[in-house]
Amino acid sequence: MAIHEILKMGDPRLLRIAQPVLQFNTPVLDALIRDMFETMTAAEGVGLAAPQIGVDLAVVIMGFESNDRYPDAPAVPETILINPVIEPLGPEEEEDWEGCLSVPGMNGVVPRFSRIRYRGFDAQGGAIDRIAEGFHARVVQHECDHLIGKLYPMRIRDFSRFGYSSALFPDPATQPRD
Ligand code: NI
Repeated sequence: MAIHEILKMGDPRLLRIAQPVLQFNTPVLDALIRDMFETMTAAEGVGLAAPQIGVDLAVVIMGFESNDRYPDAPAVPETILINPVIEPLGPEEEEDWEGCLSVPGMNGVVPRFSRIRYRGFDAQGGAIDRIAEGFHARVVQHECDHLIGKLYPMRIRDFSRFGYSSALFPDPATQPRD
């Protein structure tokens, strides 16, 4: 197991379209996922995509039990999501603050679909098919964007609500996380 360096915005490896995983239930895939969880935990993140550690594969992980910005939000279950496909359930969007481990020290307000269906596979190749809304849906959309070379600043429409976390949220306890 190993904690990996997280690539920062500007690194061209974050702009690639990730390759699909073709073989499940392999030692290589299991090791990647273990490293991703270890790296995400060390960075206190709520989600991580394989491209963020320089691995060009369509693998994301996510999960948290509580979030300071969403004290009433249900926890996002610990999820390994491979080769994901997202389908918006209706045109409704909502805006909220996001951060990203690849954009350290900054936050911005990002519009996301309010309700989505997402599908994909777990590490053994088992099917995942879920409906999500609110913060859960936001995290899925943010992480899956990493697989198509999109970082959240590319989704911002109002740049008056983008900036340094320390200026936007002087109380560190209230800073949005990713
Ligand atoms: Ni991110």
